[in-house]
Amino acid sequence: MLIDTHCHLFQEYYDDVDSIVKDMPGIMIVSGVDLKSNEEMLSLSKKYDNVYVTLGIHPEYASEITDVSLLTQYFDNEKVVGIGEIGLDYHYDKSNKEEQKKLFIEQIKIANKFNLPIVIHSRDASLDTLNILKEYLNTKAIMHCYSYSKEMAGEFLKLGIYFGIGGVLTFKNSEKLKQVLKELPLDRIVLETDSPYLTPEPFRGKQNIPNNVSLVAKKIAELKDITYEEVVKITEKNARYIFNIKK
Ligand code: NI
Repeated sequence: MLIDTHCHLFQEYYDDVDSIVKDMPGIMIVSGVDLKSNEEMLSLSKKYDNVYVTLGIHPEYASEITDVSLLTQYFDNEKVVGIGEIGLDYHYDKSNKEEQKKLFIEQIKIANKFNLPIVIHSRDASLDTLNILKEYLNTKAIMHCYSYSKEMAGEFLKLGIYFGIGGVLTFKNSEKLKQVLKELPLDRIVLETDSPYLTPEPFRGKQNIPNNVSLVAKKIAELKDITYEEVVKITEKNARYIFNIKK
């Protein structure tokens, strides 16, 4: 079964979220980025058996959020399977690095305490991300949309971290990620779309949907020289293990 471990099925992006969900034969793990989208994604997960949710405050909202312990009010719901997406993003805004780090660390501590995996967003912040994870991580974790070097991937592998692989792998200019993928053991890879963003080829430029995760699986099969079915099987196993999904 295909599992899209990371997508944002927000109403503000899609005309008809229900049809997008019904279009996907496998499991979707939808992800919030702020208080409003967390609640919206939690509702969606309650509506559909094959939709699970990760809740978190994205670094982009670091300056708006004062109390991340608010997240824990939802943890008794069985559809909540992780914390994300959380992390560091210095690409557009470097001015609030300290706020971002604080928010990231606080959410990692909550994840450790509740034994929930985290889904990490990290952009232009590889060293700070690595150092924080080295110091605080005590639960399972996925680097979502990994964009750093092969050497850095080795460091994250040493920490037991998994890698979310998405549409970027299918892009013509993604030689760096293709090289990284060759080094990654299959038991550390999960599939993701990051819908509505990062639509895989041949649909690049259009709005992304969870069902496109099959295109990512096909590309991994090609690059790893194994069958599509093997990729689907092992990434399903990994995702079920990380997020403790048994159904
Ligand atoms: Ni995302």
